[in-house]
Amino acid sequence: MAKSKHDVTDLKMAPSGKKRILWADRDMPVLNLIRERFEKEKPLKGATIGACMHVTTETANLMRTLKAGGAQVALCASNPLSTQDETAASLVKDFGVDVYARRAESVKVFYDHLNSVIDNKPNITMDDGADLVNLLHTKRSKDAGSVSASMEETTTGVIRLRAMHESGDLKFPVIAVNDADTKHLFDNRYGTGQSTLDGVVRATDMLLAGKKVVIIGYGWCGRGAALRARGAGAHVTVTEINPLKALEAVMDGFDVRPMGEAAAAGELFITVTGNKHVIRGEHFRKMRDGAIICNSGHFDVEIDIPALQKMSKKVNRNVRTNVDEYVINANKRLYLLADGRLVNLSCATGHPASVMDMSFATQALTAEWAHKSGKKLNVAVHDVPQKIEEWVAKLKLKSMNVAIDKLTSDQKLYLSSYGEGT
Ligand code: ADE
Repeated sequence: MAKSKHDVTDLKMAPSGKKRILWADRDMPVLNLIRERFEKEKPLKGATIGACMHVTTETANLMRTLKAGGAQVALCASNPLSTQDETAASLVKDFGVDVYARRAESVKVFYDHLNSVIDNKPNITMDDGADLVNLLHTKRSKDAGSVSASMEETTTGVIRLRAMHESGDLKFPVIAVNDADTKHLFDNRYGTGQSTLDGVVRATDMLLAGKKVVIIGYGWCGRGAALRARGAGAHVTVTEINPLKALEAVMDGFDVRPMGEAAAAGELFITVTGNKHVIRGEHFRKMRDGAIICNSGHFDVEIDIPALQKMSKKVNRNVRTNVDEYVINANKRLYLLADGRLVNLSCATGHPASVMDMSFATQALTAEWAHKSGKKLNVAVHDVPQKIEEWVAKLKLKSMNVAIDKLTSDQKLYLSSYGEGT
C-alpha cells in the first residue's frame, strides 16, 4: 500500500480505531454491497476525491468504499471537535487514506487541513457544510477549474451552495446529497434525534424523564430530537419561525411557543435551526439556574456565546468533560456543552452506523454517477438521481428482512388512467 500523507494525533491509536471501524461496518450492509462491487469494477478509477467530513468510523467506511472503487482519497474534518483520533490513525495506517484531522484542532489548523486536501488536486469533492467548496471559491479559486463535481452532505451546506448558485458565483456542479429522501428523512430525523440525546446524556448524565426540554427549530433534525426527547419522557416545547412547521409541531402534539417564553421554563435547550443567535442575551437573562444549553446544528453560531461570555462573572471550564459553567451571578449558573459545537459529534460519536449506511451508500453511488458523468453535468445544484434513491431504499429494506408488496397489473392500469370514478 502506498504511504499516506497525513496529519493525525497519534498513529499508535490505529489498532483500536480499526476495531471500531470494522464494528461500524457490520451495521452498514448497503455500503458493504457497494464496496464489493466497486472492488471488482473499479468505477472510480482516475478519480481524486477530496472529502471534508466528520472523521468517524462511518465516514471511514465510506472512504474505504471510495478507495475500493479505485479513487485516490484525501480527508479532512468538517468540524474541529468531531474527529475520532483513533479512526483517523487507522484510516492512515490500515486503509491508505490521506487524513488531515486532529480532534480539538485550532481554527487555523482546521483550515490548514482543508488546504492540504485541496493540495491533492481533487477532481471530485465531498463536503459536509460546504467549507471545501467555499475555499475553492475564495482563497483557492485557482484550483476550482480541475473540480468536475462536488457532493454536499448537510442542510446548511446545501443552503450555502444554493446561495452561491443564485448569486451566479458557483463554479462547478454540485449534488445535494442531503436532499435525497434516503438521506434527510432518515439521517436528519432518526440519526440526529438519537445522537443528539446521546451527546447530552454522555456529557451530563442527566435524566430526561420529566425534564423540560426546548427544541429550537422543527426541521427534520428538530423533529427527530423532539420525538426522541418525548420518547424518553421529557416535556417538550418547540420554537419555530415558520408557521407551517410550527403547525406541524402543534399537531404532532408538542407545546409550541416563542423563545422569549420558552427560555424561562426550559431546563435543557437544543438548537437545530441552521441560523445564528437563536439563543441570545435576552434569553439567557430569563433562563433558570442550572439550565443546560447545547447545539446540534452544523455551525457553532446558533448560541450567542460572546453575549453569554459578556454577561458572565466567571467561566469555569470543563466542570465535567465538554461542560463549561457560566456564572451569571451568585444564584445563577448556565451550562454550555462542547463550546456550542455539534453536541452529537462532540460529546458522542454521531449518528449510528445503521443510518449512516443509507447516507453514505447514497454518497458512494452519487460519486460514481458524478465521475461517470465527467464534464457533462452543468453548473447547478443537482438532485441525486431517483434510481440511486430507489436502489438504496430497496437494499436497506432487504438488509432489514422487510418485504413489501408489488402493484398488480390492474392497479398499474388504474394509476395510469382516469376513466374509473364514483
Ligand atoms: N454526521 C452525523 N453523524 C455522523 C457520523 N456518524 N459520521 C459522519 N458524519 C456524521
